[in-house]
Amino acid sequence: MSDGELTHSLLEWYDRIRRDLPWRAETDPYRIWVSEIMLQQTRVETVIPYYHRFLRLFPDMRALADAQEEDLLAAWQGLGYYSRARNLQQGVREVMSLYGGQAPDSREALLSLPGIGDYTAGAILSIAHNKPEPAVDGNVLRVFSRLMQIEEPIERPQTRRLIEAAVRAVMEPVHRYGDITQALMELGALVCIPRNPRCQECPWTKFCIACKNQVQGSLPKKKIQEPPRVVEIYTGILIVDRKVLAMKRPPKGLLASMWEFPSIEGKTANTETEGDQLLCRRFRDMGVEISIDSAWRSLTHVFSHREWRMRIFLCQAMEVNGITTDDTRWMDRKQMSEVSWAGPHRKIAAWVFEEFGELPLEKGT
Ligand code: ADE
Repeated sequence: MSDGELTHSLLEWYDRIRRDLPWRAETDPYRIWVSEIMLQQTRVETVIPYYHRFLRLFPDMRALADAQEEDLLAAWQGLGYYSRARNLQQGVREVMSLYGGQAPDSREALLSLPGIGDYTAGAILSIAHNKPEPAVDGNVLRVFSRLMQIEEPIERPQTRRLIEAAVRAVMEPVHRYGDITQALMELGALVCIPRNPRCQECPWTKFCIACKNQVQGSLPKKKIQEPPRVVEIYTGILIVDRKVLAMKRPPKGLLASMWEFPSIEGKTANTETEGDQLLCRRFRDMGVEISIDSAWRSLTHVFSHREWRMRIFLCQAMEVNGITTDDTRWMDRKQMSEVSWAGPHRKIAAWVFEEFGELPLEKGT
């Protein structure tokens, strides 16, 4: 088997079955960049409407560089992993200031931009600039771990390097580098899927060592994953004069700058009463004395490395001292619908709407 055969059978297959995706009509690096960032951790069907709307709102780098954070996060609302949006904007701002608004076309320069790792750099270089640069994501690792029957864990740097070299060899014979990148993604997404791969539809069946040995279902091999760390969270809902108290999360870290109901991690709380006390202290720091009315709901939300076990309490205000800062706000229903809520808190906000309608719970004290 020569790499020419791999290349030709892959491209022949891709030309026949390729999906008509909106970014496939593009070679503008900014548009490819946006699509690749959105497609990280998110399915193609979910991304398509967001991609169209995002580019209507921010059609070029200048527009995105100038955008307000609230507008950016609102356009991203629902896609999750919001640091992607912030990094994208920061990266675009750097391209405006350092590269005169022209996205760089070297791997090194792209890698220096926030949010651009090896995979995204390879995707931009091959798709937008038609350069022979591999873009190796989970799909591509899976395809090649089967094609070559690689038994080592795919997270290993040596495994990755081996696969990058194999992708370069497949790219070499024909100067359609962006198409090879997208064809490999298509193969991983449609045929060489994680479970029950559709080997009878694969352009590479006759070259695939794992398929020949019937071990494709057990590849790729992965390192054993650590389970997410469990965090107990106490959250308080306080409604006064038809407004609910909300706060903005810190600008760095998990769900940075997103809004939430006042919450406290209960890592030191061993009992319900200790949890109540922590929550009361949390409100006191915000200038509000509360008593806890009742345990209302609970919610578990699993992130990649963390699991929030949330207990949500309805609170009564005993004493309110004026405390509106940039990070703390009393919100009516309309304001609640205009800000970006941290994932699980969006669900809680929906429950609050559902149960309290126009937020009539309590009059001011
Ligand atoms: N996943 C990541 N990038 C992609 C692309 N360009 N097309 C389809 N799926 C993808």
